[in-house]
Amino acid sequence: MFGLWKRYLPRRIKRRAMVYWYDVVAKMNTSGDLLFLNHGYAEPGHAPNTITLPPDLEDHRYPIQLYDLLARRRDWDGKDGLEVSCGLGGGVMFLDRRYRPRTMTGLDISTESVAACRRRYNESRLRFEAGDAQAMPFADNSFDIVINVESSLNYPNFSAFLREVDRVLKPGGTFLFADYRRSGKMAKLRQSLTDMGYDIEIMADITSGIVRGLELGLERKRALIDRHVALPLRGIVRGFAGLSRGRDEERDKFHAGVKSYLMAVLTKPNTAQS
Ligand SMILES: C[S@@+](CC[C@H](N)C(=O)[O-])C[C@H]1O[C@@H](n2cnc3c(N)ncnc32)[C@H](O)[C@@H]1O
Repeated sequence: MFGLWKRYLPRRIKRRAMVYWYDVVAKMNTSGDLLFLNHGYAEPGHAPNTITLPPDLEDHRYPIQLYDLLARRRDWDGKDGLEVSCGLGGGVMFLDRRYRPRTMTGLDISTESVAACRRRYNESRLRFEAGDAQAMPFADNSFDIVINVESSLNYPNFSAFLREVDRVLKPGGTFLFADYRRSGKMAKLRQSLTDMGYDIEIMADITSGIVRGLELGLERKRALIDRHVALPLRGIVRGFAGLSRGRDEERDKFHAGVKSYLMAVLTKPNTAQS
C-alpha cells in the first residue's frame, strides 16, 4: 500500500505530504527522543564506532557518525556554519557541541521542526530558520561551511539548491554533502556536484557504511516507533521508516544495490587568490 502511494501520487501532492509528514513527526516528538532522521553510518568491518560520545548522545551514535564522517574533514573553529534541512536539530546541536563553530544556523522547510528546534536549543550561537533549500533566506557569502545530510532527495530542483549553496557560501568555503539515490541516478548526482566547479576533495560511495548503520540502528528504530506510535498507525509509520514485514526493507535495497549513498567534500574556489 505504502509502495503504491509512493509510486503513483503526483509529485506536487507527494511534496506537500512530505512536508506535512515532517511537521507531524516534529509534533509527535514531545519526549524529544528523536533528534536525527537519517539512516546512520557505521564503519564497515570490526570497529563500527568511530567516535567517543558523551552518554546522553550514545543512543544517537549512528546518525551522529554520518554527520561526523563529513564534519571531521574541517576545522570549524571560528567558522559560521549552515545546515540545510536540519530536521529536528540533532545535527546542529552535535556540530556545535563537538566542533564549536562561531555560529551554527539550521534551515528547514518544516515550520514545526524549526519551532521545535527553537524551543529546544536556545543558545545565542544557534539560529533556526524556516525556508526552502532552493531559495534560502540568507545573504550572499554568509557561511564558511554548508552541510546537507540525507535531504536533497526531497528537493524538486536539485540544481537550484546547488546554486543557492554556491550563493550563500563564502569563497574558499566548504560544502559537505551526503545523500542517496536509486543507483541508476547516481552518475547524474555526481555530475551535478562536479559541475559546481568546486575543488573535489572527496566524492565517495559510502553505501556499505550506511548498510552497517541501518543494521546496528534497527532495534532502536523499532523501539522508538513502538514507544511513540499508537498501534493502529504503526504499520504506516514503519512503512515510512523503511521497516515492514519484520525486515528493514530500506537496508535490503542498499544491500542489493538498488540504492546507493554518496558523500562529498567540496571547496568553493577562493576567487580572491585566483
Ligand atoms: C530525512 S530528514 C533529514 C534531517 C536531518 N538532516 C537529519 O539527518 O536528521 C529530511 C529533512 O529535509 C527537510 N526538507 C525537505 N525538503 C526541503 C526543502 N525544500 N527545503 C528545506 N528543507 C527541506 C525536511 O523537512 C526534513 O527535515
